[in-house]
Amino acid sequence: MTYEGPNAVPSRRNSPSSRVAARLIGLGSWLPSRVVTNADLSLTLDTSDEWIRTRIGIATRRMADRDTATSDMAVEAGSLAMKSAEVAHVDAMVLATATPDHTVPSTAPVVAHRLGLPCVPAFDVGAGCSGFLYATTVAAGLIHSATARTVLVIGAETMSAIINPTDRTTAPIFGDGAGAVVLTAGRAEDAGALGPVAWGSDGEHTDAICIPDGGSRRPPARPTADDNGRYVHMQGSEVFRHAVRRMSQAAKDAASATGWGTDDIDRLIVHQANARIGAAVADALGIPPERVPSNIAHVANTSAASIPLLLTHAAAEGQLTAGNRVLMACFGAGFTWAASTLTWPENLKPFAGNGPALSGDRQGHVDRPGVSTDLEGGLS
Ligand code: COA
Repeated sequence: MTYEGPNAVPSRRNSPSSRVAARLIGLGSWLPSRVVTNADLSLTLDTSDEWIRTRIGIATRRMADRDTATSDMAVEAGSLAMKSAEVAHVDAMVLATATPDHTVPSTAPVVAHRLGLPCVPAFDVGAGCSGFLYATTVAAGLIHSATARTVLVIGAETMSAIINPTDRTTAPIFGDGAGAVVLTAGRAEDAGALGPVAWGSDGEHTDAICIPDGGSRRPPARPTADDNGRYVHMQGSEVFRHAVRRMSQAAKDAASATGWGTDDIDRLIVHQANARIGAAVADALGIPPERVPSNIAHVANTSAASIPLLLTHAAAEGQLTAGNRVLMACFGAGFTWAASTLTWPENLKPFAGNGPALSGDRQGHVDRPGVSTDLEGGLS
């Protein structure tokens, strides 16, 4: 280990190059077809298209209809990822979600069942918007330990089910969707192999993004005076500050552990929380906007689905190509955060169900906030 910072991770440089690693071989995503514009939201909310575009970077989001739950979108994305990988079977399935179909049971088993994967071990991972990289890290661990050879990892969210449509501080931000990858055993030096992970959590900020009611702290059997507690409550500027700081540091740690400096990073894939957050993370790492693909303008913040949706859309648009060195970073409720690296593999065919075209949208189009990050041991 060469770095002793808060997200210290084993360095790829000091690891035996032939060790087993989780390699990306399949990529798919799916979006509900209903498009909700900022103008649509302005009909019932005290907000405007201009405010949402300049402060968050979002123009439209997709919303599931009432009959569509998280498992439905997860099945679509998972099926496309398996088609992309050309596999009919996996050894395990991990679903990252903050919006399971039910509190009990977890949603992964029904997704596995509907994908034709009977009796496959399947479980949910809950880490808010960091869920996808938490889930790939768990899947990589299963592969490293030879517990599984091939794992399907899905991030899927029905954020519209937990957002108060009358709350202008949250309603414009979130959208619904799902993305998925297939990981299989390979070697650390293979293109597509997941690199070191920098991850962490800080439960001191548990209230900063929280659904107060419906869990064991305030069970549904003991409702509060109104039903507002069943929706997401968020301290926006507090979340903004921590998101920039934590993602920047974790991304820096993951890059350093991989042996990459700023110039080595061809693409930064940052959780699509707010375009200004992405811009601030890119600025903190010294990565120019043209190396930062974005789809937030079209899909909003899809929480645990955000990273695989962006990977699929960017690859489908030719913004991720073989040999690109990719740095991924995410942040979410908890707080939680994670970052990791990979070199984009050859012959990976992404399947993006229901679009969208990114139309050249990049994160440089919004106000750049200039948030101080005080990175420990900045990237060279
Ligand atoms: N439309 C119009 N005005 C709005 C608004 C909206 N949708 N939401 C807030 N405002 C107003 C506020 O009331 C405030 O008005 P005031 O100055 O008269 O009091 C003003 O805009 C500024 O509010 P502020 O909260 O400081 O705005 P902001 O620039 O911090 O943006 C967020 C608010 C929520 C968009 C921003 O803080 C954010 O994106 N935070 C991170 C959220 C996130 O990514 N969550 C998921 C993490 S995984």
